[in-house]
Amino acid sequence: MRIRIPPFSLFAGTANPDLAAAVSRALDHPISPCVVERFPDGEISVHLDEPVRGHPVFIVQPTSPPVTENLFQLLSLVDACRRAAAGRVTAVVPYFGYARADKRHARREPITASMVANLFQAVGLNHLVTLDLHAAQIEGFFHLPVDNLTAVPLLCDELKHRLPPGTVVVSPDEGRVKMASDFAQRLGTDVAVVHKQRKSGTETKIVKVVGDVRDRPCLIIDDMISTGGTIERAIAALLKSGARPEMRVAATHGVLLEGARSALSHPALGEIYVTDTVAPHHKDWQQLKVISVAPLLGAAIQRLAARESIEDLFQ
Ligand code: R5P
Repeated sequence: MRIRIPPFSLFAGTANPDLAAAVSRALDHPISPCVVERFPDGEISVHLDEPVRGHPVFIVQPTSPPVTENLFQLLSLVDACRRAAAGRVTAVVPYFGYARADKRHARREPITASMVANLFQAVGLNHLVTLDLHAAQIEGFFHLPVDNLTAVPLLCDELKHRLPPGTVVVSPDEGRVKMASDFAQRLGTDVAVVHKQRKSGTETKIVKVVGDVRDRPCLIIDDMISTGGTIERAIAALLKSGARPEMRVAATHGVLLEGARSALSHPALGEIYVTDTVAPHHKDWQQLKVISVAPLLGAAIQRLAARESIEDLFQ
């Protein structure tokens, strides 16, 4: 049954135009025109080309690389909406950048996830919709409603008939154990964990594998793949622990920086499943399977615009 939705406006920044267009199609609702460009000195300039007075507004913009640029665009769009007397302003941020610093690892460091939450609140955001936050407790930095959706059901639907029997779900570090358990429960299998000791922000070191991986195919899961280093090291640790050289990867956010493709070119690794929260740049990468979150985001916007529950979207 199609929900009757009161009028609202849908805007998008420039971070992931294909995803924004797919959300618009899923909703059967146009993206309102706006101009996002740069002044000659590099400053970001935003202009909404349509009145929003009194309208609920949804803005689709992942804060993916270039993170600061895309974040500032989003903050500018929210500010423009609020100053133009919009109704509730909801940011739909499928990938939430600056999330990795959710606590201080050493003294004299910032907590950037908390800074970003403060910035959103300072410009008058009313509601945040995001997906597989790096750490669920980031929600606590906000004093506004946060709906942290998950792509795990979508990824499992894609994977459930494609995994060889006996596949074990592997968390590449302690931080992803809960996500791995969710995958395992949906796929009807068990979990192993790779203990990762981080040496610095960019360098990691594998310690050991906990769980039954001997002679078993593995599905390594993660919230994001950035340089590919975490997965590369997990593969090495799993093979050393006797896992079958038959691995797959599933992660919500395919940030996939330069070098990730080469880091993930291991002969034991088959398909890599990610979603389109971050605009995919590797069209010719056969191993990479991209699953769209547009229907999920469209369904969330539809329900929120109609002021209905989104609980079923987590199942
Ligand atoms: C770490 O805590 C995250 O969950 C990911 O494992 C990490 O960010 C992936 O980054 P990379 O691909 O650069 O190892």
